[in-house]
Amino acid sequence: MGRSRLSLPLLYGRCFYGDATRCPTTALNNPHMSQNRYSDPECAAVYRAIYERRDMRHFLPDPIAPELLLRLLNAAHHAPSVGFMQPWRFIRISCPTLRKAIHALVEQERMLTAKALNEREDEFMKLKVEGILECPEILIAALCEQRQHSIFGRRTLPEMDLASLACAIQNMWLAARAEGIGLGWVSMFEPVALKTLLNMPEDSQPFAVLCLGHVDKFYDKPMLEQEQWADRKDLKDLLFENVWNTPCR
Ligand SMILES: Cc1cc2nc3c(=O)[nH]c(=O)nc-3n(C[C@H](O)[C@H](O)[C@H](O)COP(=O)(O)O)c2cc1C
Repeated sequence: MGRSRLSLPLLYGRCFYGDATRCPTTALNNPHMSQNRYSDPECAAVYRAIYERRDMRHFLPDPIAPELLLRLLNAAHHAPSVGFMQPWRFIRISCPTLRKAIHALVEQERMLTAKALNEREDEFMKLKVEGILECPEILIAALCEQRQHSIFGRRTLPEMDLASLACAIQNMWLAARAEGIGLGWVSMFEPVALKTLLNMPEDSQPFAVLCLGHVDKFYDKPMLEQEQWADRKDLKDLLFENVWNTPCR
């Protein structure tokens, strides 16, 4: 059939997971290299942000410069979105009382999550799952109201609005990493309670409490991996060929 095949030794071999992924270098005279490709250092910087992005829960108190915060918000705003609907909304929390109330909601849900985890309750309670009171900036990422009018790409998959919001948050996350700013995504809260607290329309939906701030150091690995809560799965177990559960040859 003459189709191109993924080179599995390259995909799965140590070199792929080692230096090769962290710092992609392509010979400049590679005949298959597209003229549209970024330069090697630019390309390496993109991959570096991807591999070194971390969900952060420890922050320094130093404020984030307003122009830097705006750059991060603009990075989010340039995310892809289904039907270009741009369903994301961000609420900057500047009121200390409101911040404490958000923290209380998260704490309440943290306790309920711990209980629901049964035998892993104690282990879970030792984890730090947010830095809401320490970080200098809190943004609530939400979906806008009246989303039922956007059916382009959502007729059978209405949740594509949420997928678009997630893309926006990921854009912000990567830009933040490149800028040396930590971002922590907190999803432990009762959405109706948060919506009420923030006076949001009935058909809108808050999805993330984003904690942003300078950090002393980015974690080397996902904190949940460092704390032995979970391990990264092998890519080869998640990649199929043609039909479900058939490994790529
Ligand atoms: C949709 C989503 C919701 C998340 N919610 C939380 C959360 O409530 N609390 C938390 O500590 N981390 C949360 N995280 C962060 C994950 O725990 C983290 O991404 C994962 O452990 C991998 O670590 P890394 O982001 O550093 O690679 C969330 C991440 C995503 C994508």
